[in-house]
Amino acid sequence: MTKILLIVFSLLFSPYIYAETESAEQIVKNRCSACHSVSIVYKARKTKDEWTMTIERMISYGLRLNEKEKEEVIEYLKDLK
Ligand code: HEC
Repeated sequence: MTKILLIVFSLLFSPYIYAETESAEQIVKNRCSACHSVSIVYKARKTKDEWTMTIERMISYGLRLNEKEKEEVIEYLKDLK
C-alpha cells in the first residue's frame, strides 16, 4: 500500500520537478539578454553549424551553458523561422 501511495505521489508532483528545468526558449530569453538584446538573436537566421559556432563564441565571451543546454539551445535556434 505504501508503495502504491509513493508512486501516486511521485506522479502527482513530477510536473513541479520538471518545471524547474528551463526550456531552451527561457534560456535564450534569460541568459542571452545578459550581454545584448535578444532581438539580435531572433533576427539572425543561421544553420545548425552556424549557430554552433555562434554559441561557442558566446561561451568564449562568458556565456554559461552546460552541454545539454547548449544542444537544446542550438536545436531551438536552428528551427526559428
Ligand atoms: C557574455 C556576453 C554574451 C552572452 C551571454 C551572449 N552573447 Fe551573443 N554576443 C556577445 C557579443 C560581445 C557580441 C558581438 C560580437 C560578436 O558578434 O562576436 C554578440 C553577438 C551576438 C550575435 C550577432 C552576431 C552573429 O554572429 O550573428 C548573435 C546572433 C548572438 N550574439 C547570439 C547569442 C545567443 C543566442 C546567446 C545566448 C545563448 C548569446 N548571444 C549570449 C556577447 C554575448
